[in-house]
Amino acid sequence: MADLSLEFCGIKFKSPIVIASIETTNSPEVIRECVDAGAAGMIIKTLTDIEDMARLTQNSKYAILNEKNELIKGKVNKNFVFYSRSGYSSTGFREWIPYLKELNAYANDHGSHLIGSAGGKTVQSWVDICKTIEDCGLPMVELNFGCPHPAMMPGVHGGSMIGQDPDVAAEVTARVCEAVDIPVVIKLTPDQSRVMDIARAVRDAGAAAVTATNRYTGFSVDIETGQPRLGGPAGIGGVWAKPLSLRWVHRIYNELGMPITGSNGIYDHKDVVEFIMTGAHLVQVGSVLMLKGIKHLPSIISGLSDFMDQHGYKDIESMVGIASRAAVKDYGDQFKKPRMHSEINVDTCKNPTCTICIQTCFYDALAQGEDGHVKALSDNCIGCEMCTQTCPFDSTSMHTTTDEQRGEKTYFQIPDEVFEFGKFEKNFDRGIKLSKVR
Ligand SMILES: Cc1cc2nc3c(=O)[nH]c(=O)nc-3n(C[C@H](O)[C@H](O)[C@H](O)COP(=O)(O)O)c2cc1C
Ligand code: SF4
Ligand code: SF4
Repeated sequence: MADLSLEFCGIKFKSPIVIASIETTNSPEVIRECVDAGAAGMIIKTLTDIEDMARLTQNSKYAILNEKNELIKGKVNKNFVFYSRSGYSSTGFREWIPYLKELNAYANDHGSHLIGSAGGKTVQSWVDICKTIEDCGLPMVELNFGCPHPAMMPGVHGGSMIGQDPDVAAEVTARVCEAVDIPVVIKLTPDQSRVMDIARAVRDAGAAAVTATNRYTGFSVDIETGQPRLGGPAGIGGVWAKPLSLRWVHRIYNELGMPITGSNGIYDHKDVVEFIMTGAHLVQVGSVLMLKGIKHLPSIISGLSDFMDQHGYKDIESMVGIASRAAVKDYGDQFKKPRMHSEINVDTCKNPTCTICIQTCFYDALAQGEDGHVKALSDNCIGCEMCTQTCPFDSTSMHTTTDEQRGEKTYFQIPDEVFEFGKFEKNFDRGIKLSKVR
């Protein structure tokens, strides 16, 4: 059986699956349930001294939408959109002290960890909260520089406001790192274009790892009433956001090489695997547990274990970052790959009843043949792979184009000089043939 255990920032975890800082970890009882359900760690809902952020949680609103932008009534599936407004822990951080100690001991007895999360009013408060977390014996703390809500709370400065400012992010990180010995993890906001600048700044300021990422800010409309859902902007996430989070996991893994915990878009073990293959070591499970209950957690853990057994991965490390390491550096690398073209399997193809691929090929490379079969015009085919995905009968496949197969006249006849600086205008006329513009 695959070994799910791993080391992250010097701490041993029994699996990569930890519970994100969220409503689930806002209560000692539910934290215990997470331990019992097999979580490798639980990140407590952000501990704070900002009263308004605690009050915000006591006034939380949630709208769970389906792929049609309708409120979900009943069963939640993988297409859910979680639109919500809530704050930090609804209980002040000092009142948590006895519970932190007790819950950490309970977690340790089960081979799990209680992990801190902080969101302070001033730089000194960040330090005080993190010191408290360390003094209670918690082995790691996450600084919440990703929460979208402080930006909409008058008089509050925190969360994604800090996470968009490299100087402030670095200052808070440095002050906390000077004050505590436990590893400090920075939870990043994706609500910006400067994610790499922030990651670099907090790494240089002493952060041991980053969490990529917290959620986005959104705006959603109930078109029946013409009213904004939840009264106005709110946080938004769901599995749809996963590729957007993975983009940052990928870049941080490849460019900074620092330890990463993945968040924003986990529903099942397949999402966990995707985060790990992109470069995360730990993976945080958040809103899906609010919607499906803690009972959903064991299926994610066992699903990961089964997947690893079936695919021959003996441990987590053997999966970490494999996709990011295989990725091209840029599109220049992409062009160096061998040219491909599509071929049709006439034995399984349902043409002329079906013409889907002809309609979806944007390059006139598939046509209705007179013999009742789809005709592939390989000279026109650019190998975009669209037809392999739109064919409902798996009757198209991609093949490497040999020099013999490659005709003189291909769809894009782009002379090499077109890409040479300064020659673009000169070459434009004899450059790209666009026969079909929709
Ligand atoms: C209702 C709700 C409350 C949240 N509260 C916090 C919080 O207090 N601190 C924090 O760092 N992240 C918070 N988050 C963000 C989650 O920890 C997590 O990063 C995010 O939900 C994306 O992961 P998911 O797709 O698994 O839900 C919250 C998210 C939701 C939906
Ligand atoms: S691979 Fe793209 S260009 Fe080629 S036939 Fe299929 S859809 Fe057309
Ligand atoms: S979509 Fe598939 S089945 Fe339909 S015409 Fe194209 S190859 Fe044949």
